[in-house]
Amino acid sequence: MPNNLKNKNIVLAVCGGIAVYKVCDLTRKLVALNANVTCVMTESAKQFVTPLTFQTLSGNKVYSDMFDTSYWEIGHISLAQKADIVVVIPATANTIAKLANGTADNLVCSTILATKAKVLICPAMNHNMFHHAATEKNIKILLDYNYKFVMPHKGKLACGITGDGCLAPVETVLEQIDAELK
Ligand SMILES: Cc1cc2nc3c(=O)[nH]c(=O)nc-3n(C[C@H](O)[C@H](O)[C@H](O)COP(=O)(O)O)c2cc1C
Repeated sequence: MPNNLKNKNIVLAVCGGIAVYKVCDLTRKLVALNANVTCVMTESAKQFVTPLTFQTLSGNKVYSDMFDTSYWEIGHISLAQKADIVVVIPATANTIAKLANGTADNLVCSTILATKAKVLICPAMNHNMFHHAATEKNIKILLDYNYKFVMPHKGKLACGITGDGCLAPVETVLEQIDAELK
């Protein structure tokens, strides 16, 4: 695989879906390809995997609190400026809706609003959530903003049913990030 990831600043915007554990593997693989990975997590994401895990795997501080005064930079602006790409993964129905509306009430959404970097969105959710008219409309809005997507796959979902909404395989996401950075 061509490596366009070397020394690139990749911001992983991690949301609160059950597929977060797969993002740990993605982080590890990106770091192995010499990317500089910084994770920013929603409050919900921290219910699934701790910041400590992402800090250890990425080797970088994990950001979450917009009002954290322990570092002098304004979090969402510095993350937005340093990113070569922002990858929203797993993108929840909630965060997709917020982004489609320009909501900026957490560090993930504020960073994405503030960035000029490419934004790659990797949704994962229950089949009905994914196919709800609201989610489909929100995704269309984000496509019109020229955000890129790695669409979910069909498979057995965490809720027990088989349907659309499984996070695309980590290798597919990795290849898409690489392609976007070409
Ligand atoms: C066990 C569990 C699993 C969840 N999985 C998903 C999911 O895969 N996709 C999704 O859109 N929401 C999922 N949710 C709901 C989100 O956590 C919830 O909408 C939350 O507000 C998302 O916040 P965020 O977008 O700020 O991360 C799940 C909730 C629970 C309790």
